[in-house]
Amino acid sequence: MPGHKGRPVLPELNHPFAIDYTEIDGTGNLYEGDEPILSAERAAARYYGAADCLFVTGGSTQALMTAIAAAVPAGGTLIADRNCHRCAAHAMALLDLTPEFVVPRPLDESGLPGLLDVREVERAFARAPHAAALLVTSPNYYGVLQDIPALAEICRAHGALLVVDAAHGAHLKAVGLPSPIEQGAHLAAVSTHKTLPALGQSALLLSSGRVPFADLLDTARLFGTSSPSYLLLASIDLARAWLEGEGEAAYAACARRTQALRREIEETTVFSALLPERAPLDPCRLTVGCRGTNVTGSELSGRLHTQFGIDAEMAERDHAVFICTGADTERDYARLMGALRDGQFVGQRRDFPPLRPFPVPQRACSVRRAWFAPHTELPLKQAAGRVCARPLTPYPPGVPLLLPGERIGQVHIEFLCAQWYTDTAPICVMEEQL
Ligand SMILES: Cc1ncc(COP(=O)(O)O)c(C=O)c1O
Repeated sequence: MPGHKGRPVLPELNHPFAIDYTEIDGTGNLYEGDEPILSAERAAARYYGAADCLFVTGGSTQALMTAIAAAVPAGGTLIADRNCHRCAAHAMALLDLTPEFVVPRPLDESGLPGLLDVREVERAFARAPHAAALLVTSPNYYGVLQDIPALAEICRAHGALLVVDAAHGAHLKAVGLPSPIEQGAHLAAVSTHKTLPALGQSALLLSSGRVPFADLLDTARLFGTSSPSYLLLASIDLARAWLEGEGEAAYAACARRTQALRREIEETTVFSALLPERAPLDPCRLTVGCRGTNVTGSELSGRLHTQFGIDAEMAERDHAVFICTGADTERDYARLMGALRDGQFVGQRRDFPPLRPFPVPQRACSVRRAWFAPHTELPLKQAAGRVCARPLTPYPPGVPLLLPGERIGQVHIEFLCAQWYTDTAPICVMEEQL
């Protein structure tokens, strides 16, 4: 990301100063629901099959925090996919929400987060019958798509709202997939800057209409600047118009090419590719597996960067993840394949233990109390028994392993040292020992 890959996909943005307005006669006020922004939002709502759409200039971070605040009353309970982005923890701290987590099933021994088990979601509702909403990430960083219709049905049965973090899914309509709202979700946050050619920080909040649009406008102000950038707003509208025009063919080609790349990687390199046989996948996301080779995902990413001028979006021990978009060209794909076939990468057995999902820690106090209480830093190896004060988040993927208010156990320290941190890494904990 960004999805434009530095290319002038939207030439109207080539002269930014000419469209960098503020609220004057004729330009409208985003948070007042004014024209011409409203018409652009309605066009996006139509495209995504939503009743309403709010343009957002603070990324899916602002869109998701707005959605959570609109769906869950302050002090309420939110059932959340444990694989949720750190901004959900920010909303929990600000709104004093109690999270009830559901852990997605790992797809394989590398611990890659897969589908949520609907029975686990039902159990979470049984534990938290007053939960106002369920928050799930779909697609996730690796491209895995959740079963939104099934989750929406559970939410309806419990009178709760389904909020989807679809930050990585802005392009999915262009490859023939329904938007989360069309599948029954009530609210969905979508980053137009991640997979579409809109500018950095631009995003959408899509709504089924169950939450009144006026409430979304009002709530979004809480988390945004009072001077939203017209450049970003224009880029969202231009990206949507492009997607409905020539962009559609660009994404169809991208999806075809990505699927071919996955097969080529499996057949002609030492690496593996996450395939749709394993889980429903975003057709444009390329997750490359490095188990059984002489490099980790992070080492592969480093070598691609330094030796081949190619940047992976994200890398960790067992994978490197690439975001393919309508702005990529055949030359880009050929360069990536050439690099992955390079003779320096060979098959090799390495004694990496399987990665189990991170054990869900016990909650010692609320997210809010832990966040706003006096805190201090300790080396990770001395943190056993202490209460985490800030989300502990390898970035990307930006998914917290520990949230504020959770007790750090020896098992968590060992897990963190095995993959993410050294045992002297500073960890932010509450001063008070609960
Ligand atoms: C799954 C997910 N949700 C939300 C966000 C936040 O999105 P943004 O960077 O658009 O604020 C990210 C960012 O990487 C993400 O990966």
